[in-house]
Amino acid sequence: KIVILDFGSQYTQLIARRVRELNVYCEIHPFYHVPELDDSVKGVILSGSPSSVRDDKAPVPDLSHVLGQLPVLGICYGAQFMAQSNGGLVEASDSREYGRANLEFIHHDNALFAEVENGSQVWMSHGDTIMKLPEGFEIIASTRDVKVAGYHDADKNVYGIQFHPEVYHTIQGAQILRNFVVDICGCIQDWSPAAFVESTVEELRTKLGNDKVVLGLSGGVDSSVAAMLLHKAIGENLTCIFVDNGLLRKNEYENVLDSYKHMGLNVIGVDAKDQFLGQLTGVSDPETKRKIIGRVFIETFDIEAHKIQNVKWLAQGTIYPDVIESVSVNGPSVTIKSHHNVGGLPDKMNLKVVEPLKLLFKDEVRRVGHEMKISPTILGRHPFPGPGLAIRILGDITPEKVTLLQEVDHIFIEGLKSSGLYDQVWQAGVMLLPVQSVGVMGDERTYESVVALRAVQSTDGMTADWVHLPYEFLSRISNDIINKVRGVNRVVYDISSKPPATIEWE
Ligand code: XMP
Repeated sequence: KIVILDFGSQYTQLIARRVRELNVYCEIHPFYHVPELDDSVKGVILSGSPSSVRDDKAPVPDLSHVLGQLPVLGICYGAQFMAQSNGGLVEASDSREYGRANLEFIHHDNALFAEVENGSQVWMSHGDTIMKLPEGFEIIASTRDVKVAGYHDADKNVYGIQFHPEVYHTIQGAQILRNFVVDICGCIQDWSPAAFVESTVEELRTKLGNDKVVLGLSGGVDSSVAAMLLHKAIGENLTCIFVDNGLLRKNEYENVLDSYKHMGLNVIGVDAKDQFLGQLTGVSDPETKRKIIGRVFIETFDIEAHKIQNVKWLAQGTIYPDVIESVSVNGPSVTIKSHHNVGGLPDKMNLKVVEPLKLLFKDEVRRVGHEMKISPTILGRHPFPGPGLAIRILGDITPEKVTLLQEVDHIFIEGLKSSGLYDQVWQAGVMLLPVQSVGVMGDERTYESVVALRAVQSTDGMTADWVHLPYEFLSRISNDIINKVRGVNRVVYDISSKPPATIEWE
């Protein structure tokens, strides 16, 4: 495997994904925790960073066990750091070094640039530049403005490149990473979804033995894939619990239960609609809604899980981006992201936690799901928030409002599917606004609710842009909603991006 040391670059996860796309396993570690380097580690990549090597507080890794032992590839900050710490000179650059550039000189005999073409486009993004290389270091690539675009120190087997091979705009970036990972480090390209399923199932069998495991299914991709892996490993010893909180989409509870039964999973469906809606009566504040839903979920899940004799483990669909320790610009940070709806579960239940997907990125989870023949309907599902429609009904929640929003949402989502637009959208839904507006139907004046449609494009939900859905489509959906759903006389479309807006309205 390859170890990637993170210096806080926004592209670190992208480096990891590119390496994984070469079917080579890699792990991200913060620069201040260089992991133990056993025989399985074949090379080290140093990421970029928002810091400058010229800062007093610049991140400095301890590479004493790495240098001379394993090949190292420094990218951007990583390259500048290796140059400077070996006696080279790094200065603020006076010419612009952001964006596209072309490799005008390439040392074709150097393994890192094998099969990279003269003039190949690369992506630069740095304010510092390497002015002078240390003794013994050799320039292996240049652009018009950046003389030291790439270097090699044969002595310590260190490579540096000042551009970013991991971004899409570096056209032959994948080739350069392949050259490093496969040819220079000697990694074998055997990390594939099939290999992952096989080895994970084996590991789960050893780890869990004859123990019983309980898992909370949400209908989403991660929990479904986690369930299927455990099912393959321990069969009947896995019990899944799917809770109907009364805030799901129309027919979602029945549809999801049905598809899980087809997958052979042992699923207990719990109808807890009344508990959730009862506790939410009269509550308008979004954070209070979230807290109540989280608490009632834990209570409900706990009661059901206790009905299973001797359960020892709680399985969760945590994925890699949730567990990577983040390196912040202002020095090491120990915060670990915890975006879990069931964050409080393990403590409360006194169970050991098993997380079979915690090394995978989202796209890999989908590929693993595909490998296990989970239906594309489950794998391609839009994300849906844990608190469900509760945070899409602005203001207080009543069963009538839930039913009304379910109807409207159903028309929108089914419309996206039948028009072939569903898969082009990352997430879509409808908000029920706490305002009434005047309308006219036939000769009657109406005074009814307004709904807002939302459809966004995103990769991780952190940033998002609204989707430019065709006017004809919006027009048809608006008509359908107003004609079919009693209580709605006005439809609007949300054209805000995130930031500054958020995807959900609450
Ligand atoms: P925002 O509204 O913050 O949403 O732009 C980003 C993504 O997170 C989802 N979301 C939630 N998911 N519990 C969840 O499980 C929550 O409380 C929650 N709030 C927002 C949202 O649907 C979007 O995908």
